[in-house]
Amino acid sequence: MADPTVPPSSAPLPRIQALAAPEMAAVDTLIRQRLASDVVLINQVAEYIIGAGGKRLRPMLLLLAAGALGHRGQDAHQLAAVVEFIHTSTLLHDDVVDESDLRRGRKTANAVWGNAASVLVGDFLYSRSFQLMVELERMDVQRILADTTNTIAEGEVLQLLHVRNPDTDEAAYLRVIERKTAILFAAATRLGALLAGADAATQDALHDYGLNLGYAFQIADDVLDYASDAATMGKNLGDDLAEGKMTLPLIHAMAHSDAAIRAELRRIIEHGDIDGMPIVQNAIAACGSLAYSRARAMDYANAAEATLSALPDNDHVAALRGLARYSVSRDH
Ligand code: IPE
Ligand code: IPE
Ligand code: MG
Ligand code: MG
Repeated sequence: MADPTVPPSSAPLPRIQALAAPEMAAVDTLIRQRLASDVVLINQVAEYIIGAGGKRLRPMLLLLAAGALGHRGQDAHQLAAVVEFIHTSTLLHDDVVDESDLRRGRKTANAVWGNAASVLVGDFLYSRSFQLMVELERMDVQRILADTTNTIAEGEVLQLLHVRNPDTDEAAYLRVIERKTAILFAAATRLGALLAGADAATQDALHDYGLNLGYAFQIADDVLDYASDAATMGKNLGDDLAEGKMTLPLIHAMAHSDAAIRAELRRIIEHGDIDGMPIVQNAIAACGSLAYSRARAMDYANAAEATLSALPDNDHVAALRGLARYSVSRDH
């Protein structure tokens, strides 16, 4: 018999992906079918970014949340496609705003087709996601997704207000990442619970799981932007500094450097001076800012896991626990 004092081990990523694989294949088919438009440029751009892959984490979370509560079905596949479409449209827009030229190991759509095409095809995917959503004819689902997409847009604009502002603090950063990132994870897992017919407390628990996972995931992403490399990440290192984006490693280094270094950092941030990267890297190293950020991400991952305690103990719940671990240990 298993030792009741030892928590069931969380599943590693390949095992999680294997568990979700049959349903994810159905979701992928649906995504491909529903991308189509008779406007050629839409097909080209949408196929380009969706065909590049991506981790498909949000649809997987939705399916796992539903599965954890015993639900499987076409409605879950449909909403999984919806959240991936929303995510993809935010990436198209984000790469224009961030002037990024590498994503998923390929040139970004804006680098290939220009900003206008990226923004407009992003709009196409946003609105296509809503076409898919209304087919379910469920007002509760529509309310969640309408609120979520509106909040994401707020998060992106809020972030813009902090660009090149060296006085941005951790609390402001957390407010941004809740809206731009965590809320979509929360919607994905809440929708899974909703489709499963879960009671309000269980829906809230899965919402909180997704929210905490989303925080962890974005903080980990912001660490990678200083700590990884383009080949591993499929995105360029240093994009955040180049854009003057105030992420947690930089905020921590600003707060813990001495006055002289802080003045240097301030200048670099205000000018989005990518040549200042070595100075920023040194300050981040001297202050232990990556370790600090990883520890904060771990706190959120632990909080995500804790919200699962009331759920039944099954392989899908173990997979959700595994994804909380994965969100902070991932390398891309
Ligand atoms: C990128 O999300 C945007 C962030 C919230 C950091 P993902 O890392 O999930 O991107 P893909 O879909 O796997 O490319
Ligand atoms: C996440 O922020 C973007 C969205 C939530 C749309 P980032 O700007 O850090 O994402 P990446 O690093 O470009 O994927
Ligand atoms: Mg970006
Ligand atoms: Mg990033």
